[in-house]
Amino acid sequence: MKDLIVFGAGDLGKHIVYNIDMFEVEYNILGFMDEDANKVGWELCGLPILGIDYLQSNKAENLCMVIAISSPSAKEAISKKLELYNIEFPNFISPHCWLSKGVKLGQGILIYPNSTVDFETEIGDFVTINAGCTIGHNVTIGRFSTIAPGVNLAGFTELGEKVNMGIGCCSIQKIKVGNSSIIGGQAMLIKDIESGKTVAGVPAKIIK
Ligand SMILES: CC(C)(COP(=O)(O)OP(=O)(O)OC[C@H]1O[C@@H](n2cnc3c(N)ncnc32)[C@H](O)[C@@H]1OP(=O)(O)O)[C@@H](O)C(=O)NCCC(=O)NCCS
Repeated sequence: MKDLIVFGAGDLGKHIVYNIDMFEVEYNILGFMDEDANKVGWELCGLPILGIDYLQSNKAENLCMVIAISSPSAKEAISKKLELYNIEFPNFISPHCWLSKGVKLGQGILIYPNSTVDFETEIGDFVTINAGCTIGHNVTIGRFSTIAPGVNLAGFTELGEKVNMGIGCCSIQKIKVGNSSIIGGQAMLIKDIESGKTVAGVPAKIIK
């Protein structure tokens, strides 16, 4: 059985450790890892919280890791640091999801129960899709993006990298969302959104 470290000793990390059975995977969980010096050395869910220096002093042979962080920019920063090590980032996809044939997946992806992903959709590295989302066909979701529960993306929606989609938001077909944009909870996207904008409302309008 491979060893697994959960990066991020926060709520998402705790959630994964408590509910690892949900993904029907089998790992030997070594513990959490975190950059926060105030957390390192303590325990969470009965498991040690390790610092990144653990990777320097221990061989990362056969080591798997899941990045349990929701902030897209934090996920990007951590994954860059971890590139130095030979770590495997498996996809954790609940068997209670439906993924069409012809879906392309990167690595380090989390997909929670009751989500569906339709054909010819591409999901980039370290994307999180929370519970109960419907992702249409020919959709692109750029690296590090985080999709909250209950998001519905119509066919040909294109999300850039590091997009943060709030709970229950929706897009009509062919909408493009630029990198690092933030979409408010329950927003309805009917026009393209430039990079770095925060939008909210029905229909979605720029608020920041
Ligand atoms: C859109 C969002 C990111 C904005 O957060 P923020 O930058 O802190 O913005 P503020 O709270 O200062 O709100 C700014 C304005 O937008 C409005 N607003 C904020 N979120 C809104 C939303 N989802 N829908 C409609 N209006 C919204 C506020 O009422 C406020 O209006 P005002 O200036 O007239 O008072 C945030 O409110 C949001 O919806 N986040 C989604 C979080 C989420 O889904 N988490 C899931 C976790 S699993």
